Amino acid sequence: MRAHPGLFITFEGGDGSGKTTQSRLLSGWLADLGRTVLGAREPGGTELGAELREIVLHRRGYIAPRAEALLYAADRAHHITTVVRPALARGEVVIQDRYLDSSVAYQGAGRVLDPAEIRALSLWAAEGLLPDLTVLLDLDETHGRARLDAARDRYDRLEAEESEFHARVRRAYLELAAAEPKRFLVLDAGRPVDELQAAVRERVRMLDAVSGPHA
Ligand code: TMP
Repeated sequence: MRAHPGLFITFEGGDGSGKTTQSRLLSGWLADLGRTVLGAREPGGTELGAELREIVLHRRGYIAPRAEALLYAADRAHHITTVVRPALARGEVVIQDRYLDSSVAYQGAGRVLDPAEIRALSLWAAEGLLPDLTVLLDLDETHGRARLDAARDRYDRLEAEESEFHARVRRAYLELAAAEPKRFLVLDAGRPVDELQAAVRERVRMLDAVSGPHA
């Protein structure tokens, strides 16, 4: 049983793995089925979050790793309380690009902070809210780097990190998915867009079959 009448679906994966494309396609499909869908993202899903996003992704100069983790947590706390929980309470489907698994992978593994502490921090920020489904779009390093390099001139602070950082992020994501197989759907992001979307829809149908529609 879920703690809310809505459905909370998150998309995770490295930069350039196709999260936005897949979440938009899923949103469109569910809306066509008559669901009320809220598209969301972190960081930057609120007015305050937009300011925090600008700082954490584009501020010049050094930001201490723990400060970075707290900025993402602050964005999350405000977003979940003011946007996501109210939508879930109304029975809506929230489809979100990035959530706490991003913090565990990027700050926990990428920045080499303690992943368990980062998870605890995120859960504190979000008052324990976990997604009903998390789609991990797993991209091998060569493809990830190639997609990233295509946008090299627009790199943000995280994208500009060296390839070992991104390799740690990818490993952490795969470990998270292995630890919570019920919550995660792991897909090879190199597959065609329509095949990936079909796999996502199949899993969402299964969720509905277990708990009934949520619109
Ligand atoms: P995006 O919105 O283009 O995916 O960019 C957000 C960047 O922020 C991306 O490089 C991943 C990073 N990030 C973290 O490091 N920790 C987090 O908790 C979140 C949500 C994102």
